[in-house]
Amino acid sequence: MIRPVIAGNWKMNKTVAESVAFAVRLLAAYDTAPGPEVIIAPPFTALQAVAEAIRGSFIALCAQNLHEAEKGAYTGEISGGMLREAGCTAVIIGHSERRTLFGEGDDRINRKLQAALTTGLKPIFCIGESLRQREEDETETVIAHQLKEGLNNLTADDIVRLAIAYEPVWAIGTGKTASPEQAERVHRFIREWIAGRYGPECAATLAILYGGSVTPANIAGLMAQPDINGGLIGGASLDVDSFIRIIGN
Ligand code: PGA
Repeated sequence: MIRPVIAGNWKMNKTVAESVAFAVRLLAAYDTAPGPEVIIAPPFTALQAVAEAIRGSFIALCAQNLHEAEKGAYTGEISGGMLREAGCTAVIIGHSERRTLFGEGDDRINRKLQAALTTGLKPIFCIGESLRQREEDETETVIAHQLKEGLNNLTADDIVRLAIAYEPVWAIGTGKTASPEQAERVHRFIREWIAGRYGPECAATLAILYGGSVTPANIAGLMAQPDINGGLIGGASLDVDSFIRIIGN
């Protein structure tokens, strides 16, 4: 049984005060930890303050990106070690906005995944096809390519320490969610691909999250699918009540 994961990706939203207020309200909503693993990914500037607010609680702190080097002359960048120091235990890698807006290719993403694992951060590795690729029936080819290149040099021991997020690019921030069946088909393909390469035991424990216009209204249908183990939520994770409803699905 894979423990479900609900992760909120706040992107470039929320001040430090807003981030802390969200965390405090989220904690106040539970007497005991909810069933799913709950992860929030505030902007870099709010990480440390949120880490203090959630210390010792059920909430895990996640960064939205890292640089693959340990340290050095990389103006504007943040290393995995710095994220650990700020209180993060996870990091989102390969988000489609990083791929398309910031030119991150599979090779770079692979180096980031390796850096995250070396520093002891749990990567949430994002993959997904564009609308054109889906329309041209290339979804599985694209997903297989992103998996092969992104996971290059990783072992089965590495795979059990990460989560994969399937985020069809056409569904991110557009209000167009993949139907549960559409998403399940790709999730099953991902699990079978992992099983073929790293063995069935590894595939059986891998959390595969769906992302792309997830809301309190559609999460339950998605989570009912056998290979959907959670959600990576953007827009609907910004409002604490909406996020709580998604956690409770
Ligand atoms: P969305 O974003 O929920 O706003 O579509 C998801 C994501 O980008 O991770």
